[in-house]
Amino acid sequence: MRILFIGDVVGKVGRRMVRDHLLALKREHGAQIAIVNGENAAHGKGITEKIYKELLGYGADFITLGNHAFAKNEVYGLLDGKVNMIRPLNYPESAPGRGHEIINVNGKKLLILNLQGRSFMPPIDCPFKAADHVLENNDYDEAFVDFHSETTSESLAMGYYLDGRVDAVVGTHTHVQTNDEQILPGGTAYITDAGMTGFKDGILGIRKEEVIERFLNQLPVRHDVPDEGKGILSGVIIDTGYKKIKKIRITE
Ligand SMILES: [Fe+2]
Ligand SMILES: [Fe+2]
Repeated sequence: MRILFIGDVVGKVGRRMVRDHLLALKREHGAQIAIVNGENAAHGKGITEKIYKELLGYGADFITLGNHAFAKNEVYGLLDGKVNMIRPLNYPESAPGRGHEIINVNGKKLLILNLQGRSFMPPIDCPFKAADHVLENNDYDEAFVDFHSETTSESLAMGYYLDGRVDAVVGTHTHVQTNDEQILPGGTAYITDAGMTGFKDGILGIRKEEVIERFLNQLPVRHDVPDEGKGILSGVIIDTGYKKIKKIRITE
């Protein structure tokens, strides 16, 4: 199976990059499914029903989320319904939505799992044990994991922990694409972070001036996500059969 994954889509510029490139990438690489991390799609924080539908309209088949999953409470009802979108599994069970889903891709059962790390992130349940539970209690042909994690060590730990048990572990959240895409010894495709899709000439998709100001003054500032400007699209294409992973990076 060929899976196109697009890293954290940030705001309007990120959505425009998905609109302009997703279908062409799918075609060019013969991807049967496109999974998009949409945790920052609504002006940097969370996602709305309108934007969920917008991303699907651009050719995304499935949306994963992260620590901003619950930023817009209007999406809670949608997350609880029958929807091609999941949030990190290891939040408390009372949180809206689900953390894994099995979908049919060309007659094969693909398990998509969204997990969130705990290093320098909100204290939630153990992502490693949460993954074990899902993998042991589901019937699937192939499995893809979006691991939303801040530290490279926790991401690598998850990669090696799941190596041979899932087809891909792809990191998200740092918004910076790493240069370590590889097939792990057990056959799992891995990258520490797929990177960000959004405003290119800023810091993680945010206007750079405010971020620099915060580091200079240590005072809280409003994060401004530009609606216009040059974009970047980051992601990976994975071939689970031939055991290949390739980075994708389109810049304007
Ligand atoms: Fe993000
Ligand atoms: Fe995040």
